[in-house]
Amino acid sequence: MGHKGISVTGLVCSVAFFLLPLHSAYGDVSYSVPEEMKRGSVIGNIAKDIGLVASRLSARKARVDPDGNRKRYCDINLSSGDLIVAERIDREGLCGKKASCVLNQELVLENPLEVQRISLHVQDINDNSPQFKDEVIKIEMRESADKGARFLLDQAHDADLGQNAVQRYTLQKNDNFLLTVDSHTVELVLEKELDREQSNEIKVLLTAVDGGTPQRSGTVVIHVTVLDANDNAPVFSQAVYKASLPENSPLDTVVVTASAADADEGVNGEVTYDFAHVSEEDDKLFSIDRKTGEIRVIGTIDFEEMSYFELRIKAKDGLGKVIIDITDINDNAPELYLKSLTHSIPENASPGTEVGIINVQDRDSENNRQVRCSIQQNVPFKLVPSIKNYYSLVTTGELDRELVSDYNITITATDEGSPPLSSSKSVQLSVADVNDNPPVFEEQSYKAHVTENNNPGSSVCSVTARDPDWRQNGTVIYSLLPGEVNGVPVSSFLSVNGDTGVIYAVRSFDYEQLRSFKVHVVARDNGSPPLSSNVTVSVFITDITCCLNCGSKHFVGLIN
Ligand SMILES: *[C@@H]1O[C@H](CO)[C@@H](O)[C@H](O)[C@H]1NC(C)=O
Ligand SMILES: *[C@@H]1O[C@H](CO)[C@@H](O)[C@H](O)[C@H]1NC(C)=O
Ligand SMILES: *[C@@H]1O[C@H](CO)[C@@H](O)[C@H](O)[C@H]1NC(C)=O
Ligand SMILES: *[C@@H]1O[C@H](CO)[C@@H](O)[C@H](O)[C@H]1NC(C)=O
Repeated sequence: MGHKGISVTGLVCSVAFFLLPLHSAYGDVSYSVPEEMKRGSVIGNIAKDIGLVASRLSARKARVDPDGNRKRYCDINLSSGDLIVAERIDREGLCGKKASCVLNQELVLENPLEVQRISLHVQDINDNSPQFKDEVIKIEMRESADKGARFLLDQAHDADLGQNAVQRYTLQKNDNFLLTVDSHTVELVLEKELDREQSNEIKVLLTAVDGGTPQRSGTVVIHVTVLDANDNAPVFSQAVYKASLPENSPLDTVVVTASAADADEGVNGEVTYDFAHVSEEDDKLFSIDRKTGEIRVIGTIDFEEMSYFELRIKAKDGLGKVIIDITDINDNAPELYLKSLTHSIPENASPGTEVGIINVQDRDSENNRQVRCSIQQNVPFKLVPSIKNYYSLVTTGELDRELVSDYNITITATDEGSPPLSSSKSVQLSVADVNDNPPVFEEQSYKAHVTENNNPGSSVCSVTARDPDWRQNGTVIYSLLPGEVNGVPVSSFLSVNGDTGVIYAVRSFDYEQLRSFKVHVVARDNGSPPLSSNVTVSVFITDITCCLNCGSKHFVGLIN
């Protein structure tokens, strides 16, 4: 079970040239976690640790995001607020021999947007045994070697750390040798002189044990061949060889050449070089030429994986050390991660509304990992830097769905390496409708001419109003505004089709009684609340009969 480590700290945005206050909050929570915990094990209660009621987690869409492109190592139980192990955490695979192994994950919350950095400090457990490079350590020894003569041995390697790494060596009981061990060397000491006539080969078992619980061990056979020829151990020209190597150096690059001199002459004086104990990983990156002592690159040197190597070399029984510092090359483009995005923003969102959180990472070092982010110019959005490598995407102006309903925003991240590398990401945002436009009639006012004695139900004219809003917010419904003409309700004169705006006569008109009248037609949208406007429709009744003034009151003639 993990236990909570460091306290929760709030971090404040410190970039001077953006003055907009940010609503989102950022923080840091740390936990100490032993490696290799079972999936589902509880690391801690993150809801409690960030001061949030667990029942709010679902509403706030709480989720754990892996930092960068690494795996998601933990997850959150939305009902309890527990942070649980989601993926195997192998300290050796993640951090090698590094003393501190920290996995960064992020807890993203919405409404309002919030990012909490989760730091998992991975603790070593004793899951690796000490291992010798070879199964057999071969040593050749002069018969004449004196009591007390010392012979350096390869040390065992244990991927674990501290107490879990190699603590002790023991040598199988034998007639000739003892073991001396100090913090740097393991040596075989001749305790009783050799006698080639008695035996020309001696085999003893060397065991390395670590200090973990349970304890683990590894063994190697020391195979001593007793020679009668004189032999001297070679001595390296330098105790430590130092080299600096740019990452991505091509295969076969010579890193450094070790050289050792042997006091012997002829065949016995020929020096052969080899690595003493190197890890499996280092063995895949560097080779040593047995004859020349040249150390060459045989794999991909990645500063981001490993920036420092310490190799033990040997020439027969002489031991030396090579230190290689890897220098960074700007070989990683920044990577952009969208931590949160509101895909649909209402058009009445006030300027400064946060719509997304962007995280940028660059695996390189120093200047090569300094990254600037920008978006294109002609959009009402900008990026506001927040803690370290976080940016908020906020609106800068009023949005109008009726003018621009969708935005394709391209975010570009560029590092400060030379040459700089950049990458970009596009995000799609759409503007959601708000009922902010009333229907508008196509004409300022309408005039209709109706010939008297018309059929009731015949159409008189039609009105049209337009509303650019979306769906029901832009759906127009027509109606007559209540009113009277000569004391009679307008509805007994005209009617309007609510959907089409076509106006119909309800009765037959008589020019001699009514020559003109006005009604008001309202266009109302279906929004909530609805918006409306009205227009005046003037109706003129035309006389279809003409009384020719010829004495006869009843002479009726058609004009037309
Ligand atoms: C989440 O927590 C609840 C309440 O503690 C528990 O019943 C449930 O089993 C947990 N779910 C998982 C997947 O761990
Ligand atoms: C958005 O813009 C980018 C860059 O201009 C383009 O590659 C992408 O296809 C666009 N996406 C959409 C959905 O228009
Ligand atoms: C209409 O506008 C209201 C706000 O006035 C909004 O809540 C609603 O979603 C809009 N309807 C549509 C279909 O866009
Ligand atoms: C009709 O429109 C006028 C002018 O736009 C407005 O002042 C009036 O209130 C409207 N009447 C109704 C009943 O909507």
